[in-house]
Amino acid sequence: MGSLHRFSCVLLVLCLAALGRAEYVKYKDPEQPVAVRVKDLLSRMTLAEKIGQMTQIERENATAEQISKYFIGSVLSGGGSVPAPRASAQAWASMVDGMQKGALSTRLAIPIIYGIDAVHGHNNVYKATIFPHNIGLGATRDPDLVKRIGEATALEVRATGIPYVFAPCVAVCRDPRWGRCYESYSEDPKVVQSLTTLISGLQGDVPSNEAGKPYVGGRGVSTVMVSYSSWNGVKMHANHHLITDFLKNKLRFRGFVISDWQGIDRITSPPHKNYSYSIEAGIGAGIDMIMVPYTYTEFIDDLTSQVENKIIPMSRIDDAVYRILRVKFTMGLFESPFADPTLAGELGKQEHRELAREAVRKSLVLLKNGKSDYSPVLPLPKKAGKILVAGSHADNLGRQCGGWTITWQGQAGNENVTAGTTILSAIKATVDPSTTVVYSENPDSGVVAGDKYDYAVVVVGEPPYAEGFGDNLNLTIPEPGPSVIQTVCKSIKCVVVLISGRPLVVEPYIGGIDAFVAAWLPGTEGQGVADVLFGDYGFTGKLSRTWFRSGTSCR
Ligand code: BGC
Repeated sequence: MGSLHRFSCVLLVLCLAALGRAEYVKYKDPEQPVAVRVKDLLSRMTLAEKIGQMTQIERENATAEQISKYFIGSVLSGGGSVPAPRASAQAWASMVDGMQKGALSTRLAIPIIYGIDAVHGHNNVYKATIFPHNIGLGATRDPDLVKRIGEATALEVRATGIPYVFAPCVAVCRDPRWGRCYESYSEDPKVVQSLTTLISGLQGDVPSNEAGKPYVGGRGVSTVMVSYSSWNGVKMHANHHLITDFLKNKLRFRGFVISDWQGIDRITSPPHKNYSYSIEAGIGAGIDMIMVPYTYTEFIDDLTSQVENKIIPMSRIDDAVYRILRVKFTMGLFESPFADPTLAGELGKQEHRELAREAVRKSLVLLKNGKSDYSPVLPLPKKAGKILVAGSHADNLGRQCGGWTITWQGQAGNENVTAGTTILSAIKATVDPSTTVVYSENPDSGVVAGDKYDYAVVVVGEPPYAEGFGDNLNLTIPEPGPSVIQTVCKSIKCVVVLISGRPLVVEPYIGGIDAFVAAWLPGTEGQGVADVLFGDYGFTGKLSRTWFRSGTSCR
């Protein structure tokens, strides 16, 4: 009995001692320097756990079970990929938290990092504030405004429990035929550079001490996404020189490099023809996290076998995982892996809408005002007898927001799309109550000639599009835009407002137009357009790209 008791005591002491030791895990200690935590964690990881960290999968196939089974390191929402149509901030947060629980249930409890395209506000989310697309922000030339947009966007994204955005796009678009041109601030690298203030808006100011949160090296972004493009015939996703030699070694980038959506698949033509080769070339070039996004077991199995067969060296895997973990530790994800429910009210809040309205005002570019210098048409008088508002884009929230809005390609429509103010409702809210506003999307000459209008506002432009769907060799205003312009402007003094992701050919009609305004893709706050048309604010926007005379001049 006595010896049994003594034995139990010894056992108890041993268990306590073991427990005591188990309680202290270096990488879990926020007091330890990030480098110490990363090294400690990396030293405990199996190959499967490391490869999981390098794998980013799409929300649609990301259950908590799959995340824990494959040690998945990151999940994303592709364009339009939402937990449910019109999901609330809370519904988003609980989806992300549910996935996070899966990640935290694993042996090492490494949190996932959830990422999303928030490229003009938190654009996938119903009732988020939608800011002008980057081409419009380029016209503002206002780095401080763009920084404030970054701050507001960060809050709206955090409201949905998401800590990571794929933005800003720092492309310098030189060719407007490219369907992504509106994602670029300008054709001028200096303008693009000046508006990277979005980054300090999104992430917070660069801390004075090099190592502060969330900056991995005191130098700016924590992740870089490789583009689909090629340079001198080499796919960016396979470009060792730019990714490893230049970005990581010469510029000493300390964050992680992520692929684009199936970006490594496209190293071959046709895409995915030789996935093993794509994996070898992409990871060999220096990509750390792969946006797979669906066939992740194929990716994991293939990468595992390439590492086991020493085709891809373990040192490359360790570099990738080191970088991913460094970002996760630095941003505080281990300490705060879940959504902060107190932020839910940030989504689409009034202050952010006011900011977007300011951005719209500053993005408008006045290109013609009156048929002669002596007859300016703008600003328009608020008090008038009767005015006509016409055109496909006058009363259409979806069209004024463009692509990357609620869905990947964007869509036409109003309340069915999201919440905001159309240009027509903005005009109605701005004019004097005694002014009659007649709206006709596509008026015939009878309507136009039969009535006596003081002036007309015609709002036309491009349909929403994103990426390759917007590639276009024929940069003209789509019909019925030109016919509406001609019908209205031949009888009524008219202002044409163009809603487009790029300059379009206006040469055939510009002579018949009294005033012409480029409004780009202004987003949900159409009131900003009326603020300037009616003179509450002046025009300050400047073209951020060349306005070409004809389609052939850009061929
Ligand atoms: C786009 C990226 C985007 C990704 C995820 C790709 O098609 O090129 O800009 O981040 O999809 O939505």
